[in-house]
Amino acid sequence: MERDIVIYPADVLKEKAEEVEEFNQEVRDLVNDMFETMYKRGGVGLAANQVGVLKRVIVIDLHSRTEKQGKEQLVLINPEIISQEGEVVKEEGCLSLPGLYRKVKRAAYVKVKAQNVEGEEFELEAEGLLARALQHEIDHLNGIVFIDRLSPIQKRLALEKYRKLKRKYERELAKKR
Ligand code: NI
Repeated sequence: MERDIVIYPADVLKEKAEEVEEFNQEVRDLVNDMFETMYKRGGVGLAANQVGVLKRVIVIDLHSRTEKQGKEQLVLINPEIISQEGEVVKEEGCLSLPGLYRKVKRAAYVKVKAQNVEGEEFELEAEGLLARALQHEIDHLNGIVFIDRLSPIQKRLALEKYRKLKRKYERELAKKR
């Protein structure tokens, strides 16, 4: 079932999500709904905060916008960055800040520890787009959005631009309903 995407500056995007302790049907339904919602919006990653659920769950599919969609799905529950290296500056966007893109500095390499939907622990090493997506989504679980990673001046400029984009987005949403 597709869920509504929460749009910045909603409070749920600024709050810390809670650890998942029970790996039950509710968590599996959440994961399925998050993939469906992400594909509908053409995103490559989504955190549970973005559908209004404060649980430490993220989904990623780098092939979201290609014919390989669904073949390499990543689900990370209670993810944690255990090591990181290097620095890369690249443009980023977010389904919760529709239309806004900014260059953000991230680690070039990350090693992440997480659990799967069964609760089994695993580790994942990543570079490139996957490393960026992991850092972006794990930030969401900690109540951080990508513009929070900008300098104060850059963030202020981004927010000015975003206010205009948001009004446009809301007008378009209203037309569709
Ligand atoms: Ni995002």
